[in-house]
Formats: sequence, structure tokens, C-alpha cells
Amino acid sequence: MLTIRKNAALVAACLLTASAATYAASDWLKGTPEQQLKTLAELQPGLGTVMIEYANRFTTMYYAAHGGNWPMADYQLKEMREIQEVGETTRPGRAAMLKAFESSHLDKLAETIKAKDLKKFNAAFKSAAEGCNGCHAANDFAFIKYQLPKSALSPTSAKP
Ligand code: HEC
Repeated sequence: MLTIRKNAALVAACLLTASAATYAASDWLKGTPEQQLKTLAELQPGLGTVMIEYANRFTTMYYAAHGGNWPMADYQLKEMREIQEVGETTRPGRAAMLKAFESSHLDKLAETIKAKDLKKFNAAFKSAAEGCNGCHAANDFAFIKYQLPKSALSPTSAKP
């Protein structure tokens, strides 16, 4: 009985510490609700952060297709569209070009993934990668040149 009580006290102490920690974590958010919203908005990922995820998913999509894991390739492509939307929202000036890239390259890739056609996928991937770098060059970021890594970034690409 005593042990149970002791344990209960321990659990309660842990819960208290946890909620105290949660409070402390948002203590940095200062000012009026409007100011707090502005602070939060400014912390949303810009295009550079979005692009890191975009590129990783692009690479994983490639290796998934090559590993015969077409559902994974499809999933990565859908997630590229999702993260792209974040970029379109936080950097509206780039939205039109991102949308153009999506309709000319991601839609094409989606067709080849649906058809599980590796030859057509490869051609669409090559032209999409040129599209990535074309957009970088057009926006004064010619030094950002996507290159396919020599191996998959994670072992999840292989066929399950
Ligand atoms: C709308 C034009 C556009 C398209 C399309 C585009 N990018 Fe980008 N990308 C940019 C811009 C602009 C930056 C610079 C980010 C910034 O504004 O700080 C960038 C940055 C990057 C970076 C560097 C991120 C970092 O900070 O380390 C990578 C990697 C990248 N892009 C990969 C890709 C890949 C892969 C694709 C295609 C699947 C792609 N991009 C398509 C515009 C584009």
C-alpha cells in the first residue's frame, strides 16, 4: 500500500513538473494577442526551409520509384505539393512560379508514378530537376543546383 502511495506521489510530481515545463516553453511569447500572432507568423518557414524538405522528398521519390515502391513515390510527391503550399503562403511573390512548376513537372511525374513506368518517370524526373534549377537561376540563385544524391537518404525507399 505504501509503495502504491509513494508511486502515486511520484506520478503526481512528474505531472506537475511536466505542466510547469509546458508553461515555461511558451513564456517567450509576449505582448498583446496581435503581437503574439505576428511573432508566430514571422516564425513560419520561408522558402529556404521549405526547399530543404522539397528537395529531400524529391530525392526519396526517385529512390522509391527505383526501388519499385510506387506507393512511397506517390506519397512523397503528394507531400511535395503540401510543403509547396507552405512556401506559396509565406512567400506569395514566388507562388505563381511554384504553381507553374507544379503543373508542368509534378503533374507529369504523378502520371508516370500512376502508370509505374520507370522509363517515363526517369525522363520526367530529369526534366523536373532542370525545372528546379531553372527557377533557381531565374531568381538569382543559380548557385543552388539540385543534384541527385548517389544513394537514398533513408532506407524507407525500398519495396516493403
Ligand atoms: C519557384 C521557383 C523554384 C522552384 C520551382 C524550385 N525552387 Fe528551390 N529554391 C527557390 C528559391 C527562390 C530558393 C532560395 C530560397 C530563399 O528564398 O531563401 C530555393 C532554394 C532551394 C534549395 C536550398 C535550400 C537551402 O536553404 O539550403 C534547394 C536544395 C532547392 N531549392 C531545391 C529545389 C528542388 C529539388 C526543386 C525541384 C523539385 C526546387 N528547388 C524547385 C526557388 C525554386
